[in-house]
Amino acid sequence: MAHNVIILGAQWGDEGKGKIVDLLTKSCHGVVRFQGGHNAGHTLVIAEKKVVLHLIPSGILNEHVNCFIGNGVVLSPQALLKEIAELEKMDIDCKNRLHISFACSLLLPYHAAIDKAREKVLDKNKIGTTGRGIGPAYEDKVARRGIRAGDLLNPKTLKAKLKALADYHNFILKNYYQAETLNADNILADLLIAAETIKPMLSDVATELDTYRLNYKKLLFEGAQGTFLDIDHGTYPFVTSSNTTAGGAITGSGFGPLYFDYVLGIVKAYTTRVGSGPFPTELQDEIGKRISERGHEVGATTGRARRCGWFDAVAIRRAKQLNSFSSLAMMKIDVLDGMEKIKVCVAYKHGKKELLLPPQSSEELANCEPIYEELPGWQESTYGIKEFSQLPENAQNYIHYLEDIINTPITIISTSPERDDTIVLDNPFIGSVNTESVLYF
Ligand code: GDP
Ligand code: IMO
Ligand code: MG
Repeated sequence: MAHNVIILGAQWGDEGKGKIVDLLTKSCHGVVRFQGGHNAGHTLVIAEKKVVLHLIPSGILNEHVNCFIGNGVVLSPQALLKEIAELEKMDIDCKNRLHISFACSLLLPYHAAIDKAREKVLDKNKIGTTGRGIGPAYEDKVARRGIRAGDLLNPKTLKAKLKALADYHNFILKNYYQAETLNADNILADLLIAAETIKPMLSDVATELDTYRLNYKKLLFEGAQGTFLDIDHGTYPFVTSSNTTAGGAITGSGFGPLYFDYVLGIVKAYTTRVGSGPFPTELQDEIGKRISERGHEVGATTGRARRCGWFDAVAIRRAKQLNSFSSLAMMKIDVLDGMEKIKVCVAYKHGKKELLLPPQSSEELANCEPIYEELPGWQESTYGIKEFSQLPENAQNYIHYLEDIINTPITIISTSPERDDTIVLDNPFIGSVNTESVLYF
């Protein structure tokens, strides 16, 4: 039985993290976001009602928990207020249950302006960002000139810091990108209004989380994006600007490394990617189109079409190495219903070499050809199935085959967007998976 569980994407994001975080929140006491910002789009479907969360942890619909936004998140006050208002319209109280770290870096309108101006200049070489300003906000943080959530408490210093930053960013917008500048007074006015809502939610998140631990309370750490969008370990430069891998949960929340006892990786039964960058198993044919249509593979934040391809076991081997997965949740198996054959990439061909792990550079990855194993598909519907034994035999075989080649148990299988349409073989907060075995696999 685990107390402190990290849940994160093992691919390129949009694996279905939101659904599993929402589902497992019933077994814990608090949910923590630790990196990224409102570039995330986490979709929950409960009794046919859809909710998409961007900044607020996906546990918020469970009224018994508190939700935390850790220091590693870049926080857009505007996006936060919008999301709180949307949840309040649904009668979900956030203001009393959301705790925001003083040390969150603020994401402000000039970050989004620079993000967009930069992508425009990059043109064909663009990253395909969400345009939310994530990269520029993290740049300010690392450059030690950023404004933090705690600065909202002091209007005088806030004003001075904002003026300096606006001057700097407006100079770049005007002279480097030939883009429109932003009015610092307007930004300040909006910030001071937002501050009134945000101030009561500010807290020392690291201390709060430690208090949960000391009281034997259970915490769920919710990753955004996915392993191959990690700034260090992903397909650089086609990545986001935070550490999306398990280590990010430590630095992005202030919860000590030895207190975590489970890492649940989320995978789709196939692979998707939104934005530019190498994607070895991408399908640009009828099968890719079919997966995209059946899986409704459209981005939850930007509405862009997601690129689709077969399951890539080479990538997941690397993801396991980076994240020390205790187990995996496999999402969207229903999308593969009715396929005659299903392919799994088991190795890459790179020149004359055969690779079992991905190469380090995106340039090399772009030159890798997938080597596939072909498995028989199933014609029956898996949609909405809640028991493993009810799955068609070939679907069961597909799951067991993947467990074997990536040497990791698959303990949760999702069969529709609905919260309850899920096969839970092991709930990390309750269950029996031997988490020590992860050290020796
Ligand atoms: P996240 O960013 O990782 O939380 O994932 P997204 O919400 O961006 O994308 C996952 C999409 O798949 C959402 O539209 C979910 O409602 C949907 N989804 C999740 N699990 C399943 C499943 O098992 N089957 C199907 N058909 N859809 C699912
Ligand atoms: P969730 O949490 C999928 C991608 C963008 C782009 C790259 C950089 O819903 O899984 P950024 O705006 O972060 O600078 O964009 O990262 N990206 C995502 N892809 N899911 C996400 O979040 C993503 N957040 C960012 O498409 O390729
Ligand atoms: Mg998403």
